[in-house]
Amino acid sequence: MTALALSLKNAIIRYGRMTAVDGLSLELRPGETLGLVGESGCGKTSVARAIAGLQPLSSGELAIGGEALGGSPAARRRDLQRKVQLLFQDPASSLSPRLTVGALMAEPLKIRRTYSAESWARIAALAESIGLGKQLLPRYPHQLSGGQARRVALVRAIAAEPSIIVADEPTAGLDISVQGELLNLLRSLRDRLQLSYLFISHNLNVVGRVTDRVAIMYLGQIVESGSTRQLFSTPAHPYTRALLSSNLTVDTQRRGDRIVLKGELPSPHEPPTGCRFHGRCPVARAVCATTQPRLETLSDGRAVACHFPSETGFVQAMTG
Ligand SMILES: Nc1ncnc2c1ncn2[C@@H]1O[C@H](COP(=O)(O)OP(=O)(O)OP(=O)(O)O)[C@@H](O)[C@H]1O
Ligand code: SF4
Ligand SMILES: [Mg+2]
Repeated sequence: MTALALSLKNAIIRYGRMTAVDGLSLELRPGETLGLVGESGCGKTSVARAIAGLQPLSSGELAIGGEALGGSPAARRRDLQRKVQLLFQDPASSLSPRLTVGALMAEPLKIRRTYSAESWARIAALAESIGLGKQLLPRYPHQLSGGQARRVALVRAIAAEPSIIVADEPTAGLDISVQGELLNLLRSLRDRLQLSYLFISHNLNVVGRVTDRVAIMYLGQIVESGSTRQLFSTPAHPYTRALLSSNLTVDTQRRGDRIVLKGELPSPHEPPTGCRFHGRCPVARAVCATTQPRLETLSDGRAVACHFPSETGFVQAMTG
């Protein structure tokens, strides 16, 4: 396996007349972990599904390893599904209750008709190396712990030898210690198997720990992206500042692992004019209500979509 880059340009995803993702671009570099963060409903899973070939783009371009995906929609989908695997948030729901762990781990290869004794040996060795010993092979999903079920889902994703893993809230609902083990495991597999990760999470502590770069999403668009260190130490966009501040004050477990900010996330059915964040932004000025800011690259390399980035002194006012 080789770590590959992925680039998404000007992606639009519509569900009927609603535009859930609106002109979004992101770059995943080979071998890195890119975090994608934003409030519930901002479109993260829609992006994840599009990248994994499970959701067609209404428009936009997707390239993997520098090559634009061409051909018919079916050929593009096959190509994506070979190179990208999605790690679901709730693995129990993606594991058939009637199959044993052994059958579940072999299933992706059987579906692709690439199953052989040799490929099984590779999968069994991988499973063993991440703590799924032979004794677990005859068990059924309901007999597994949360951590074991997620490891089985991980083996299934990696069995197909992808270059890119899209992990959609992979640690949600896990105890802190199991969460830590899974994150360490993901990191070591990334380095050992040369994978690139798109890592979606509401948990900013986790994102700060495991990602190299972060893209912050608001209502279908990226509002800031840059290195994790930059964004966490000196967030430039008012929304990034608000998210980081909420992380310091909100008990994410008690509130269902969701980011909670003051004010309602506007409906994607009727996005606000101008800057989409202006109704909730404590430093909005008149121009913000009428003119949409473009995503501009600052001198330090990060990209920010705000007319007045790097304002200070309002963070606490945003959090509820
Ligand atoms: N299949 C669908 N049909 C219609 N609308 C959808 C569909 N999937 C998602 N949506 C809508 O698109 C928007 C983005 O949803 P999405 O699931 O991508 O958000 P998200 O950021 O992953 O949210 P969460 O953090 O809650 O998982 C939401 O308004 C959602 O209701
Ligand atoms: S453009 Fe204006 S409203 Fe939008 S985040 Fe920047 S200051 Fe706030
Ligand atoms: Mg989601």
